[in-house]
Parts: sequence; structure tokens; C-alpha cells
Amino acid sequence: MQDASLQLQDDARALPFPIPANVYAERVVSVTHYTDRLFSFRITRPQSFRFRSGEFVMIGLPNAEKPVFRAYSIASPAWDDELEFFSIKVPDGPLTSELQKIAPGDVVLLRQKSTGTLVLDALTPGKRLFLIGTGTGLAPFASLVRDPETYEKFDQVILTNTCRDAAELAYGNELFSAACDDPLIGELTGGRLTYYASTTRQETAHMGRITTLIESGKLFTDLGIAPFDPATDRVMICGSMDMIRDVKALVEAAGFKEGSNSAPAEFVVERAFVG
Ligand code: A2P
Repeated sequence: MQDASLQLQDDARALPFPIPANVYAERVVSVTHYTDRLFSFRITRPQSFRFRSGEFVMIGLPNAEKPVFRAYSIASPAWDDELEFFSIKVPDGPLTSELQKIAPGDVVLLRQKSTGTLVLDALTPGKRLFLIGTGTGLAPFASLVRDPETYEKFDQVILTNTCRDAAELAYGNELFSAACDDPLIGELTGGRLTYYASTTRQETAHMGRITTLIESGKLFTDLGIAPFDPATDRVMICGSMDMIRDVKALVEAAGFKEGSNSAPAEFVVERAFVG
């Protein structure tokens, strides 16, 4: 029997434009709209497509001879049969203005190589892993909190999700509930995955930018945990350029050194996709 993506490569001959070289054509499985700014979608996964949890891949639509591709963090874990993405909708964005209209059965293009620095390999061993995400910057962490390897390497995983308002937190809230309730992943996350959600433009249980919550120490006192310690903690940061700059300055002030795939260290950063 042919696998679904090979079948699709055949079907895709019927597309208005040829599929570019080194690109997979995959089918949309489901789409969830959270707000007028945020949505997630799942697509079929080519059997030969391998990635490390936390990496990103280039995504496009088959709507031009030379389609626009944008970097998207893969939100699903490496063991998942499908690929999941969490996206912003920008009304005049070159890709998202069209991507936000996808429906199950539509074709999405995927470049064959994934890459990125928000991977466990870019961090030296530690005990607590802080995943600091704002907006769609949560996506790579949605992959990592569902990956058993994360719990092999760290005793405690602290996921923070800061958005403008309560509705925007929905993706992260559902992710956390599912990670706790899942029969397989729940065994690993039980008592070891902590979730902290805050909003900046609407009153909710926890208010404020993550930078303010770290600086004031409120993040740590609310969770009843010790503050940042480079001897035991590792940090991953994903959000807007400004957010990355500001959180990075805070962890550097706390004594953390930035790592990469070739030189693992104590924290890593990556800009969440916009546009
Ligand atoms: P704010 O509402 O104060 O701008 P966005 O969706 O625009 O990327 O924002 C996601 C979250 O990141 C918002 O809560 C936003 O707060 C926050 N944010 C924006 N800039 C920074 C920054 N420099 N440091 C920390 N958080 C930030």
C-alpha cells in the first residue's frame, strides 16, 4: 500500500504549479482557530521526514511558481504521525494572509530539512528546564514538553506562556491539560511538568510580562520554586525579537551562557515566526 504522502505527491500533479525541488506536498488534517490572531493546524507527515523536537521547518502554499516560504517551529513531538504548527494570522502577511484560510484536505508545502537551536542537544546537562514562550513562541515548546527525551534529561520542566489576553492562552492551556492526561506522556509529566500562564492586556489569575515576573521574582514565588541558578537550570526562550532581547538580558545577568548546536551551554533562543 502506498503511504499517504506518496499518494499525495501523485495527486499533487493536479496542482496549478509544479512542486518545487526538495519540497514535500502534504495534506491538511485539521485546523483550530483560537482568536482572530492565532490558529493551529495539523498536516500529514512524510514517512521520510525526521526532525528533533524544538526544530523549525520552512512552510509554504502551492499558490505560485515560486511560493513564499516561512520558518515554522514544529509544535508536535518527534514521535507523532502528523505535524502540528501554531501560527499567527497577519492580515497582509505574505504567507499567513493565505495560510489562515486552509481547510482539511488542502495542500501545504514543506521543505525537506528542519533545523534550529531550541533543541536539547544545544544545552549542557541540568536539573530544571525553563521553557519561556510568548505568543506563537510556545510552538517549539509544545513539541518538547511532549517528548520523552525531555524528561530523560531533566527532573523538572517549567513551561511559561504569556499572551495578550485569556483567549490567546487557549493553545497552551489545552497543551498542558493534554500532556497531563495523555496515557503515555502523562506518566512522564506527572509532578514534573509545571505550567505558568500570564496575560498582559486582560485581567487573569497571573498578570504581567514574563520579564517583569522574572525580575520581581513573582514567577518563582507563585510556583514555590527557587530562582534561576545556572548551576542547575537551563533555559529556552522563544518570542518576538524584543522579548528575546529582554529575557536574554535577564538570564545573562543571572550568569547563564548562550549555547548552540556546536557549543552547548546554559540557554538558547529563537525568534518566533511573524508574517
Ligand atoms: P504586551 O501586551 O505588553 O506587548 P505578541 O503576540 O505581540 O508577540 O505578544 C505576546 C506577549 O509577549 C504579550 O503578552 C506581550 O506583552 C509580550 N511581550 C512583548 N514584548 C515583550 C518584551 N520585550 N519582553 C517581554 N514580553 C514581551
